[in-house]
Amino acid sequence: MQIYIEKDYDALSHRAAEHIAARIREKRPFVLGCATGGTPQGLYRELARMVRSGLLDFNTLSTVNLDEYCGIDENHPQSYRFFMRQHFFLPAGIDFRNSHFPACDARSCAAFEKKITELGGIDLQILGLGKNGHIGFNEPGSLRSSRTRIVTLSLETREDNARFFETKGDVPHSAATMGIATILDAREIVLLASGEHKARAVFQMIRGAVHEAVPASFLQEHPRVLVFLDAAASKEL
Ligand code: PGA
Repeated sequence: MQIYIEKDYDALSHRAAEHIAARIREKRPFVLGCATGGTPQGLYRELARMVRSGLLDFNTLSTVNLDEYCGIDENHPQSYRFFMRQHFFLPAGIDFRNSHFPACDARSCAAFEKKITELGGIDLQILGLGKNGHIGFNEPGSLRSSRTRIVTLSLETREDNARFFETKGDVPHSAATMGIATILDAREIVLLASGEHKARAVFQMIRGAVHEAVPASFLQEHPRVLVFLDAAASKEL
């Protein structure tokens, strides 16, 4: 794993955006794996800014998203489709028709895996990191061999994500997510983590044993993972 430590959130967002933009300029067409959550918002802002300044274009870009909640539709402000439109696709002028999400039935999960294969695989997958070490919605206990499937969210994850919903009870109980094996098939992985509350998970991901108890630790087995941290998230390294 290559670790980059920046002084704060803005600096890490900027650095990760520069890296991803360089990759996208190198290869056409490009398949970008996207993540949602608080952490990648600054990165998406930077990439959209580059597009508006003419430094980057997404004309031959396809995107695949890591996960989506079950039980809320795409017009719900907390759905990940809505999030992506608001934070990335609209500001960056990305054609929604080239964007793909897993959905909450077994057939759609299989179709999503097939779509990734048809696109030629994921060139670069963006990841955040859960406080409990999850990546996507692969909660502790997820298998190394897991693929896109429907999962039950842990209490901790539902509590962490409650800040985006009106009440805790509104947070969905399940989601469709790429599996660990799906993520590890990406040619390159860029993981972002910011804030002291992530420092323990960052330590376990990088220095801990490779184990299902910390799904992100499986990233140690991937040949090309870049981890962008701010100083607070790197505190326990
Ligand atoms: P966050 O979530 O970016 O909102 O902290 C990360 C994650 O749970 O993967």
